[in-house]
Amino acid sequence: MTTYRVASIPGDGIGVDVQREACKVVDAAARRFGFGLEWSEFDWSCERHAETGSMMPADGIDTLRAFDAVLLGAVGFPGVPDHVSLWGLLIPVRRAFEQYVNLRPVRLLPGTSSVLSGRGADELEMVIVRENSEGEYSELGGRHNAGRPGEFVLQESVFTRVGVERIIRYAFELARTRQHRVCSATKSNGIIHTMPFWDEIFAEVAAEYPDVESEQLHIDALAARMVQRPDLLDVVVGSNLFGDILSDLAAAITGGLGMAPSGNINPEGAFPSMFEAVHGSAPDIAGRGIANPVAQILAAAMMLDQLGEKAAAEAVRGAVQTVLEASEVLTPDLGGGATTEQLGSAVAAAL
Ligand code: NAD
Ligand code: IPM
Ligand code: MN
Repeated sequence: MTTYRVASIPGDGIGVDVQREACKVVDAAARRFGFGLEWSEFDWSCERHAETGSMMPADGIDTLRAFDAVLLGAVGFPGVPDHVSLWGLLIPVRRAFEQYVNLRPVRLLPGTSSVLSGRGADELEMVIVRENSEGEYSELGGRHNAGRPGEFVLQESVFTRVGVERIIRYAFELARTRQHRVCSATKSNGIIHTMPFWDEIFAEVAAEYPDVESEQLHIDALAARMVQRPDLLDVVVGSNLFGDILSDLAAAITGGLGMAPSGNINPEGAFPSMFEAVHGSAPDIAGRGIANPVAQILAAAMMLDQLGEKAAAEAVRGAVQTVLEASEVLTPDLGGGATTEQLGSAVAAAL
């Protein structure tokens, strides 16, 4: 029997609740499909930061290196500034393990329709390919004239040829396995250094894929397209920040943040990939046991895909679909009255 070693980092807020349900569902899938799961849990979180002054131990990255995958709940909670908590855990893992692809599938599950676009399941099926290692997320810059009238801050974006090209190429390769369409998010009319560079590389790579239809849209127009005509989109590729914003928008058109999974992928497989929901720790509902665990369960299904357990991954997605279609066990964000635990258990039982 194959046994996978998975690092579990529940993290903060609702991350802890949804992680419990995702692990429960993965364990059920492992029993049904005859593989083993060996979980190691790490308490890396804002709570740990409050006690020790750091989000994770100094050798945290080295510890994770040995695992087949990482499943992360959510990071960040009031009390620790977001730039401290996220740059003390989430972002270092993405970078150390060269998880330069942030893959965010957007699917409207059968039985539901998009409140925003009014479209049904067959018309809404795209994937956001977000650059996950550079771009607008940069430590370069700083504060000047602190405390004086001329105070200002500068922050520089970094777009490397290697970084831009590999993410765009990933998007085109992915499109070849789907509907052969790639849309690039740009803003070259306003952001005059980085975005024309991005567009130039997009055009170069697109020329190598004559079988894939390519277009680019300014991020503002793309946001509108996503709400009004998501059926025109297949693979959407964007920079770190653009991909981040578009993925919450995409979640919103498919039922909310509680529905959207994501994978931080190291495509070469040299390092573990990390799976998590698109959403955060939701301090506004934390501790109430009502968070929707579907996004995290679907993130765990992406992890199973990546581990090579495709049938188990499909079965998990099928179980989620069955439970949602039955409409009996739904959390408040989906219009029901169920708890996180009840929805997670219903999915595990449907397996
Ligand atoms: P958020 O995603 O945590 O919450 C936004 C809204 O969506 C809230 O109203 C929340 O209640 C709702 N929501 C989110 N997930 C839900 C779920 N599963 N079920 C039901 N409702 C859900 O975004 P935020 O409030 O901007 O961020 C809160 C904290 O999380 C911040 O510290 C932020 O930096 C962090 N964050 C972490 C990650 C991550 O770990 N990957 C992602 C996003 C935000
Ligand atoms: C996400 C989150 C993170 C990001 C934050 C918390 C740093 O919003 O994973 O989408 O922007 O990458
Ligand atoms: Mn985000």
